[in-house]
Amino acid sequence: MADLEQIKKKLSTIHKYSDSELDIIMPKLEEIDRIRKAKHAVILAHYYQIPPIQLIADKAGDSLALASYAKALPNEISLIVTSTVYFMAEMVKSMCPGKKVVIPDPKAGCSIADGMNVNALRKIRENYPKAAIVAYINTTAEVKSEVDAVCTSANAGAILSNIEGNPVILLPDYFFSKNIITGMRNKQNGKRYLAYKMIDDGSIIMEDILTGKEERIKINEKEAPLLKDGTCMVHNKFTEFDIHEYRKNNRIDVVIAHPEVRPSIANMADAVGGTEKMIEYLKGKPNMKNVLFITECDMAAPLREAFPEKEFFTPCRFCDYMRKNNLNNLLDSLKKEIHEVNLGPEITQGARRSMERMFELTSMLP
Ligand code: 13P
Ligand code: SF4
Repeated sequence: MADLEQIKKKLSTIHKYSDSELDIIMPKLEEIDRIRKAKHAVILAHYYQIPPIQLIADKAGDSLALASYAKALPNEISLIVTSTVYFMAEMVKSMCPGKKVVIPDPKAGCSIADGMNVNALRKIRENYPKAAIVAYINTTAEVKSEVDAVCTSANAGAILSNIEGNPVILLPDYFFSKNIITGMRNKQNGKRYLAYKMIDDGSIIMEDILTGKEERIKINEKEAPLLKDGTCMVHNKFTEFDIHEYRKNNRIDVVIAHPEVRPSIANMADAVGGTEKMIEYLKGKPNMKNVLFITECDMAAPLREAFPEKEFFTPCRFCDYMRKNNLNNLLDSLKKEIHEVNLGPEITQGARRSMERMFELTSMLP
């Protein structure tokens, strides 16, 4: 149950909201809380949501934490509001097909998810019939329904080393794939690891990450994904200059980065990991006082809450998609149960199978 006084205190002390901002925010949070209780609804929020949304949510977390939470929801819950982006709302729907899932703004997309479609995926499958194909969680439910397993930033290394099949293919974010596969060090088990790179001149470009060799598969332009590559338009903007500048002007003890950043940036970081892993990494490290984090700017909220004694710096970049959600459209989607996410039975079943495979492979030893 939400403790609204506690939320108000955190918004004021940790997140520095002014009294006049709180006068607008708190009545909305009260209304959200009242309606949520009356409807037996739950609110899920990604860590890249504004602090009031993260605090009023029943669960705030990374994509894996939200998927696990949704999977374990009891029968009495019939409505889920996912304050996330669309592929995450689909992910929640595939874990809870019997529940109504809504999203505050259905236009909350993702440049990684727009970088892959089933046409390209089928071409890749045809070309590598013995491959295990793993989709990053940032993909549509349709893409998930035709791969062998899903992975997230929290478990990609384990999934890639545990999955059977050779080669192992990871798609669609080339930077993510490269960072994860090179970071696996000796866990590649003598297999080939291929990453989807981009569409170029009527071809799908695949890269053997360990040798750097490229392979091409023909694709009709009309069948190609909406975007020519599947990288994150927030994380791919961080530069070497950002890190140099912060290091020059502040006493930075540690740099942590999300694996969606460019490999040159990942190489400059002390730790590379998904949103939840960043929190894990900093636990029990009192000497790491000044932390530079290279990921979406709203990640400051859970970091500051988890470690009030540390100071966090970031070359602040927001995800415009995540920011489409706000307290007004969240309240609206909860109240009117609008912007429902619907998936056909085959896609639901297929996406769920790939998600379940992820949970099985994560629980195996790496
Ligand atoms: P997480 O899996 O770490 O939640 O990340 C998803 C995402 O979209 C990061 O940009
Ligand atoms: Fe997609 Fe990047 Fe936004 Fe994450 S931060 S939802 S990967 S566009």
